[in-house]
Amino acid sequence: AKLLALHGPNLNLLGTREPGIYGTATLAGIEAALVEQAEAAGHRLESFQSNAEHALVERVQAALGEVDFILINPAAFTHTSVALRDALAAVAIPFIEIHLSNPHAREPFRHTSYFSDLAVGVVCGFGADSYRYALDAALQRLGDGGA
Ligand code: DQA
Repeated sequence: AKLLALHGPNLNLLGTREPGIYGTATLAGIEAALVEQAEAAGHRLESFQSNAEHALVERVQAALGEVDFILINPAAFTHTSVALRDALAAVAIPFIEIHLSNPHAREPFRHTSYFSDLAVGVVCGFGADSYRYALDAALQRLGDGGA
């Protein structure tokens, strides 16, 4: 099967961005680990990062008929973007919401998500490992192979 990992704004800065909150892993490192993990299970995984809401909306729209499962860290758009939420609802591709930090332990404006109620599940608070745990859950649902 084909998986798509989507990364929202400022996640291109992982590694140097507020390392006390987000850790020191880079996005390139996280993406490489996800590809390896997916391929080891016989699946394919592609990544896409953008700081632009419209680019993420367009990537979700393009995923229709092409992608079987989405992993998404909407970053700040988690708390703001009805448009990205609606795109995921429109394509109806199952997705897991991911955060490095635990937004519930942070500022009140991070406690609400436009995505969680549509998500298969949410993994947050485990740093870069949040991605690994989320992909593990996605792979469990997809079963073996099919790549
Ligand atoms: C984040 C949490 C968001 O609140 C924040 O805006 C981010 C990253 C996380 O992965 O912990 O950019 O999604």
